Amino acid sequence: MIQSNLGIKDLTLSVLGLGHVGLPTALGFAELGWNVIGADDDLDKTRMLSLGQTPFYEPGIKGLLDKHLESGRFKVATDSATAVKESDVLFVCVGTPQSEDGSADLSQVENAARTVAQNTNGYKLIVEKSTNPVSTAENVKMTISQYLDTDHQVEVAVNPEFLREGRALEDFFNPDRIVIGVESERAKDLLFRIYEPLINNINQNGESANQGEVSPYMSGQKIVVTDLNTAELIKHSSNAFLAMKVSFINMVSDLCESAGADVNDVAIGLGMDPRIGPDFLRAGVGFGGYCLPKDLKAFIRIAKDNCVDESLLEAIEMINDQRVDRFVSKLALLLDGLAGRKLAVWGLAFKPETDDVRDAPSIKIVQRLLEHGASVILYDPQATDQFMESFQGSTEKISCASSALDAAVGAEAVLLLCEWEEFKLVDLEELRSRVDGRVVLDGRNFLDKKLISEMGFSYYGMGR
Ligand code: UGA
Repeated sequence: MIQSNLGIKDLTLSVLGLGHVGLPTALGFAELGWNVIGADDDLDKTRMLSLGQTPFYEPGIKGLLDKHLESGRFKVATDSATAVKESDVLFVCVGTPQSEDGSADLSQVENAARTVAQNTNGYKLIVEKSTNPVSTAENVKMTISQYLDTDHQVEVAVNPEFLREGRALEDFFNPDRIVIGVESERAKDLLFRIYEPLINNINQNGESANQGEVSPYMSGQKIVVTDLNTAELIKHSSNAFLAMKVSFINMVSDLCESAGADVNDVAIGLGMDPRIGPDFLRAGVGFGGYCLPKDLKAFIRIAKDNCVDESLLEAIEMINDQRVDRFVSKLALLLDGLAGRKLAVWGLAFKPETDDVRDAPSIKIVQRLLEHGASVILYDPQATDQFMESFQGSTEKISCASSALDAAVGAEAVLLLCEWEEFKLVDLEELRSRVDGRVVLDGRNFLDKKLISEMGFSYYGMGR
């Protein structure tokens, strides 16, 4: 992590929206030495935060919250208007949920813009951080001009975040790039100042950014300075591209299964090509979470609205949607039907190191297992409560366990849906003594196939 002995900083930053993006961002800026005000419309959340309680699980967040409530560099505002008045630069990290037609619902972004315009008492820079459809910043500018007192100046910039849940702070302090969409030197200078410690960090740690041709957008290293629309599109296309990699490897995984090959090894060979890269080639039950599925849908909408062929994006989504069927059918085949089966489900979060279950594959899979007449015992190191809160179907045949081994008692199969490290450490002898059946279906190709098979289990992965 970056050292925070950076001296007093003369700008005050506000972060509007203290969710999975806003809170790590706010605490990250405080750690860099800035005075940060956090605001959120959810008053339960702001009350919790001001008492030092974190509203969700994210590694490292609690420590930084305690540290900067105490240092006074992170304050929670009672309302957004106060945050606007007391700060120079406002990072908008509010949600952009999915509308019924698949587009992003930008009402929270618009509200934030209006609040800034109505409470401005000097120059303010609004920085869009949420994943927004291209042209959102242009619309925000129009909203501002409607509400702004002409004595004041509000500028808009786009500085998309690339944080991953579960590694949000790590990503904040070690960004692979910082994208800055601006319309003036003043806005650019402000953002460069704010990020200065990280820019130095990139320069010290970064491999040369000048590999290949230097893009006209590159100013310094790994800082991409663009116009507003381009910055928005960089973020949106990044998430769509990541989704495409996952769906691609999942399609190859099906091919491996039919033809007889191991998708994990295919991914290793494929990823060694530096033009492809090894990341996001893990086959399994598909991508979930609050970002990739929703952002992909919104991207499809944007393509349609701009009369651009969206079929590639639709195929990515379709392949992902089919993962649940693929997994459940495979299990049904292995167990010769699912009715009356007792199943242990390991891992409910959409990915490890988070308690977030939004759009997690586990929700659809458990739903489907119940529809087929199975009963399930669930275990997740962090996300069980969140899962039970968001699960909409009947919970009659669901029970929850407090450990992976407990979940396995009497189970006819163990299903892994999220790759928490602790599942690799489960005592396999003990597991064997607790389960009824021998099937292990690894929906993330995560467990040690050889070890598990040697212990007398029938191990199945996806595409292996
Ligand atoms: C994603 C992006 O990775 C971040 O760069 C971005 O900032 C963030 O969305 C956002 O827009 O806020 P996140 O949603 O935290 O981050 O999750 P990812 O790590 O991207 O994983 C998404 C899903 O893909 C998970 O369900 C994961 O299990 C799945 N996945 C990922 C695979 O199935 N295979 C892989 O190889 C990689």
